[in-house]
Parts: sequence; C-alpha cells; structure tokens
Amino acid sequence: MADDPVLEHELEALLEREWFDVPEEFRERALISDLSEHERAAHDPVGWWEEQASALDWFEPWQHALEDEDAPFYRWFAGGRLNVSHNCLDRHVQAGLGERVAFHWHGEEGEQRRITYAQLLADVQRCANALKARGIGPGDVVGIYLPMIPEVVVAMLACARIGAPHNVVFGGFSAESVHERMAFSNASCLITSDGGRRKGRTVAVKAEVDRTMDDLTHLETILVVRHTGVDCPMRDGRDLWWDEALAAADPECPAESLDSEHPLFILYSSGSTAKPKGIQHTTGGYLTGVTWTFRNVFDLRADEDVFWCTADVGWITGHSYIVYGALANAATSVMFEGAPDYPHKGIWWELCERYGVTILYTAPTAIRTCMKWGVEHVRGFDRSALRLLGTVGEPINPKAWAWYWHVVGEGRCPVVDTWWQTETAQIMITTLPGAQRMKPGAAGTPLPGIAAKVVDGEGREVQRDVQGLLTLRQPWPGMLRGLYREPDRYLSGYWERFGAPNYFVGDAAREDRDGYFWVIGRVDDVINVSGHRMSTAEVESAIVSHPKVAEAAVIGQSDEDTGQAICAFVTLRGELDGDDSLTDEIREHVGQRIGKLARPRRVIWTGDLPKTRSGKIMRRLLKDIAEGRQLGDVTTLRDPGVVHEIAASMGDEDE
Ligand code: WTA
Repeated sequence: MADDPVLEHELEALLEREWFDVPEEFRERALISDLSEHERAAHDPVGWWEEQASALDWFEPWQHALEDEDAPFYRWFAGGRLNVSHNCLDRHVQAGLGERVAFHWHGEEGEQRRITYAQLLADVQRCANALKARGIGPGDVVGIYLPMIPEVVVAMLACARIGAPHNVVFGGFSAESVHERMAFSNASCLITSDGGRRKGRTVAVKAEVDRTMDDLTHLETILVVRHTGVDCPMRDGRDLWWDEALAAADPECPAESLDSEHPLFILYSSGSTAKPKGIQHTTGGYLTGVTWTFRNVFDLRADEDVFWCTADVGWITGHSYIVYGALANAATSVMFEGAPDYPHKGIWWELCERYGVTILYTAPTAIRTCMKWGVEHVRGFDRSALRLLGTVGEPINPKAWAWYWHVVGEGRCPVVDTWWQTETAQIMITTLPGAQRMKPGAAGTPLPGIAAKVVDGEGREVQRDVQGLLTLRQPWPGMLRGLYREPDRYLSGYWERFGAPNYFVGDAAREDRDGYFWVIGRVDDVINVSGHRMSTAEVESAIVSHPKVAEAAVIGQSDEDTGQAICAFVTLRGELDGDDSLTDEIREHVGQRIGKLARPRRVIWTGDLPKTRSGKIMRRLLKDIAEGRQLGDVTTLRDPGVVHEIAASMGDEDE
C-alpha cells in the first residue's frame, strides 16, 4: 500500500476527521434514523425487550419478562414456549417465503449451491429425525465439528428443533480440542465430515477425530457428512453416513415446544485458565437478542439484501449472525467455505460482485490483510451493491477503518464497529447506521435496552475520557445463563467483582465526552489473535506438555496484522539448548494440541522466568520486555536479575 501515494494521501485526509456523518441516501431509507428507540428503551428496558420478543412466534406466552430473584442466574420470558428452528424456518415457509434463498453457498473450488428456506426446512426435519432415531432428545448434547458447508446449519437447526443443545467446535481446532470439548460437555453424538479442504489440499477429518475419541463412552453416535471423499474409517454401531441417515429418516418432524430457558447451545471459549469455559445460551432471550440486533444494526431489508458475514460458524459471530439472527429475519446470506486468498486474493470481492452482497460483516484483522495485499484486488470487482459495512472481534485502528470506508465502501457505506462477546451473544455497543454518526476507532454507544459503564477497580464510575473497566449494568436477553457444569466459575468470573446486576466484561475501555465507547482490550490473561480469543494458560499448558519443556509463559505481543500475536518464553529441561528446529517442534506440538491458530508466533528461550516470591509468573514484565518498554516494578521478584537477562538476550536476538 505504501506504493500508492494517492491512496495514502486520501487516507491521511480521512484520518484527520473525527466524525463521519451517516450518508443521506442511507438515512432516508434506514429502519431507524433517530434515537427514539434508545430513549424508549431507557425508560423501560425490560418492557422494551418484551416488545421485541413479541415479534417472534411463541407457542405459549411468557408469564414474566425477567426473573431476577436468583440473580445472577437470570431468566428471560419465563413460562413462555417456542422453538428456534420454527422461528427460523417454518414461520417463513408458512408466510410464503419458502422459495427465498437462505444461503448462496460458495465452495473452495468454485462450486455453488443455492439453498432455499423450504429446502433447509426439509433437510432440518430429516436430520432431526435421524438424531431422534439414535435416541437423541431434549437436553442431550450434540457436538458439531464441520467445515463451512450448509450441513453445519442444518445440523444446528436440527438440534434446536428437538431441544438437543449443540456444542460447535471451530473447524480450525485440533481433534484433541474436539475430544476435550466432547468430554467436558458429555456429548452423546458428534456430527463431523470425512474430510476438509483448505486451499486446494484435502485433510482427513474423521480419521483424525477417531484417533482421539475412543475413550468417550458417552459418545454413542458419529454422523459423518461426505464432503471430500477421502478415506474415512467407519465403526459399526457408532458411525453413520449423514446422507444415508437423512434419506432413511421420516421427512416430517414437528418442532418441539420448548421452555424459553431451554438450553440452545454451549460454546467453549477461552478463559483465564487452561480449561475453556462452556458458555451456555438458552432459547427465547437469545433469539430475541440476535433477531433485533441483526435486523437493526444491519438495517435489514430482507427481500432485497444479501448479507455476508465472513466469520466461521464455529465462533459466536457465526452462531448469532450467520445462523440464528440471519434466519430468524428471513435474510439471504452468502456462505463461503474457503480462505480469503484462495484461489486468489480478490476472491472476497469477486463473491461480493457475483452475489450482489449489500451488507458485509468482517473482522479488522481481515481488513488489515486486504490492505496489505493491495487495492487492485478489491477494485478489480464491482462492489456497487454494497451499502453497509461492519466489523467485529477487536478494536479497529483508524487507518484500517478509513481504508474500509474509502476503498471497500467508496465513501458510500456506513461502517458499524460492533462490540460484543461470546457471553453477550448479541451486539451490545455500536452505532445504529441510519441514526448515529461514526467515529473511527470508537465502537459507539450501548444499543437500546443495554446499559454500559466504565468503572474503576472498586466499581465506581469514572469520569468521561478516563480509562477503566467496562461493565454492563443491567441484564439483557441474550446474556449467558451460566458455564456448563461450573456455576462457581460463572459467579467468580463475571459477577463477584462488582456484584449483580453489574457484569464484569474483562475489557478495558473509555467512554468519551460524546458517550462513545473506546474498547481497548482484555484485562485478563486472554489474548486476541486476529479477533480469536486464546487463553495464555491454555497455550502454556500445551507447550509444557512437550517432553523437552520445563516451563513456559505466554503473552500477547502487539502485532500490526493480527492485533496481538502469541509470544512464548520457554525454559527447557536439563541442559537442553533451544534452536530453530525445536521452535518448529513446539509450534507443531501446540498446533496438534489446540489448533493452528494457537501456535506461538515467537518462541524465546530463557534460563528462568520472572516469578514473585510465591512463584507466580509475572507476565506483565515479559510483556514490557517483548514490547521494548521500560520495565515496570521488579521489586516483588524473587530474582530481579532474571528479567535483565531475558531483556539482554532478546536484544541480541533483534540485532
Ligand atoms: C474483543 C466476539 C473492540 C473484546 C464477538 C471482547 C472487541 C472479545 C470488539 C470477545 C470491538 C470484540 N472492539 N474489541 N468491536 N468486538 N472485541 O468472545 O475484547 O470471541 O471481550 O466474541 O473480543 O471475543 P469473543
């Protein structure tokens, strides 16, 4: 990009602007073009959310909108009964929208599949019956480990239809991570594929999975989607082919009437210890939260728009905005199997042209990567259908914001920077695109029905413009309902710090004089790599499980491309010396244990690690060293010499 002085100059000029106005043509047609919803909701947040919930189809009405007697174990729309798959499918088909495209699926090698709402409903019913035929019913956990293919959506909705909570594992995680998640959640079934494709290569998925699953006696069924045709071992009595099971199943499966608080899914996410947290979401509140936010943050006109969220279904972004929020609103979406640079670096923009994408939702790290590749890949394709852009996952630096606005959106499309978490399930802080001006770098204001504040360590509100801890001050319908089988961890992780209803987010933030929130980053031991949450403790424990390693400490180091990059300080056993081949071995080992995305970018060999007298590793100091900052207080260290040694050896390395 540095080679393009004209563009560079244009971006510089944009960076001088604090505010960007909503483009007039956008405002004129926007669903919401003023702050009246914010105001109405502020008056009576629970009543306002009830109004949004009533836009869904309920089999039986709720008695209480919000029950908080057991706070922080909140219940939304208690007594009400509904079904998520009915709301995402049957309701639309009954309204005559059966022929509307739910997904334009685009495969890695350019294959295309068009899946209508009617087809999705038919497949979901068969899949639901196939699961039932294996004895799976309400409350039984079903694991899903699939690539970005339409079957992943069918599987999720089939689970929702029969009340079996799903536990989706991101396809980029290793088989060992799948094993761990299946064990923690006691899954009785796993839905996976024979193989997966990645940039022209084929990998054997089922064979890998088999390597780790044998000891799980509760896992009685593995349903296998034929995707790549690679060799695939099948075990009699346990393993079934997806296509055969669906063909044999009854085509009709009525949607189960489920309690509003019936568990919809568990999604494992990184916390500050090595064990991932099983974040639990339920039915009525979740669907209310994602349906309203999808429609209004993306200003959806369901009969015209083509929405594309580039996330993987295995993350919360995929759950809420590829699957549930999109389908509940009868939207048409693009689903793409592949990587952004295969078969070429302009593939995303080619897809925008081909499918006439009007709303694009992606992550800042992807935008930075596209910036690096150069504007020619973007400008080679027609993006005139685009009218709204969104980002999620990490703070967006103003330069990437300006590039997104100027190059991708041609100065015509509002950009919504959406802050939220796996725990919140729904977008919480952003700008409503037809109603609120944008400020690059700031996410925006809390959405209607959401209350956020920045507080100090004791929970006292800080002044505007002062950095502190982000908290959410009142329950919202999509909020997590707990951590799977770990109620104490739920209490201590989110509620003990400030006391319910004040939810501890784990992010540092600042609210500016205009009430816009600038989210800075995590305050716990969670690293954000390309918008993906990784736990330092989890990576450390994977490194330490390598036979040559004695100890390890992992930190997130600022990185221009990925936001943060994983940097590991490693002490070897005995007299071993570290070298490049051992670095590769350790990276590979972590890839096997967790997944490729957890492999450290940098491995630094150290004779010892800085520890307090009680033996706690001081990551803060390692971070100072890695970022080349003045070292903080070292007086509490058992051996202050250690940090100087590490700093000196890193100086050598950089030379
Ligand atoms: C970070 C992803 C700044 C934040 C939906 C949060 C953001 C964590 C933004 C949640 C944003 C997400 N601006 N930071 N717009 N969006 N984050 O659970 O640190 O994978 O706590 O959910 O990502 O990550 P998670």
